[in-house]
Amino acid sequence: GLPLVIDTDTAADDCFALLVGLLDPRADLRAITMVAGNVGFDQQVENAFLTLELAGRAGQVPVHRGARQPLVQPWISAEEVHGDGAGGLRRTGDDRPDAEPAQDALVRLAEQHAGELTVVAIGPLTNLALAVRRDPAFASRVRELVVMGGSLNGRGNVTPAAEYNIHVDPEAAQIVLDAGFPSIRFVTWDPLSLQHAVFDAGRIERIRRLGTPLGDFFVRANQASFDFDVAMGVGGSVHCDTLAVLLALDPALAEVERRYDVAVELAGTHTRGATVFDWHAPRGGNATAIERIDGERLFEYVLRLLSR
Ligand code: BDR
Ligand code: CA
Repeated sequence: GLPLVIDTDTAADDCFALLVGLLDPRADLRAITMVAGNVGFDQQVENAFLTLELAGRAGQVPVHRGARQPLVQPWISAEEVHGDGAGGLRRTGDDRPDAEPAQDALVRLAEQHAGELTVVAIGPLTNLALAVRRDPAFASRVRELVVMGGSLNGRGNVTPAAEYNIHVDPEAAQIVLDAGFPSIRFVTWDPLSLQHAVFDAGRIERIRRLGTPLGDFFVRANQASFDFDVAMGVGGSVHCDTLAVLLALDPALAEVERRYDVAVELAGTHTRGATVFDWHAPRGGNATAIERIDGERLFEYVLRLLSR
């Protein structure tokens, strides 16, 4: 399988994305690296271990703890969106995180799998920026970095202009963009995800009717962000983290993709943390953004994954 690291701030949608990395035979998940984000750091670690248990893979993939704070500004949580990120479920085992810090694991794995490692970042980009700073050759050794973050049309989900993962650590995101990764692919929160990665009440009901432990976990852990996103007018819960991992394994899921010069607004009275996607790409582009996916294929895939 594809050597893979998932860097995550494990709320429920991240847990589901982890399930893809843990259960899809095309993936060889080498490590889960944890970054400060959605819910309290130690709760995130618990959620990652819970997901390993539910996938039947406890003890098989190391969990590395990384940054507990963004590079410059204080941590901003999203507990109002996600609750504890696990729908109150708790793991039964007592596995411990690996002693190696996340950024060191990233650097080591990029060295071991030079030119082959895929990194999927579904939280703030702090750990990635720290790995870039630690080893100037890190970025060039990664085959592809898939980032869930930013927004193509300028709308945010935390502030009017900023999407959460970039909003939490804008400096880290800019460091990553400047680092020279051979390939960066963005799964943005809007408009792509809002069209294609939304799971509305009908989809959630189909998952509930599977009656499997994984399906029950999905429905229960998903409830908090479902309610939040519906109240926000999105029409269901948004599963762009899952989409990001699946895209790494199944590039054909992307139907339209375009090259951009991407930058992060680091100042801005109203726009700090916003991503600016220059579609003229006068500098030739430092990333691509997925502009359309096969949303039905995504949902059918999730159904199959949760039916086991
Ligand atoms: C992103 O922020 C988190 O709340 C989600 O897990 C996703 O990674 C969406 O803005
Ligand atoms: Ca996330």
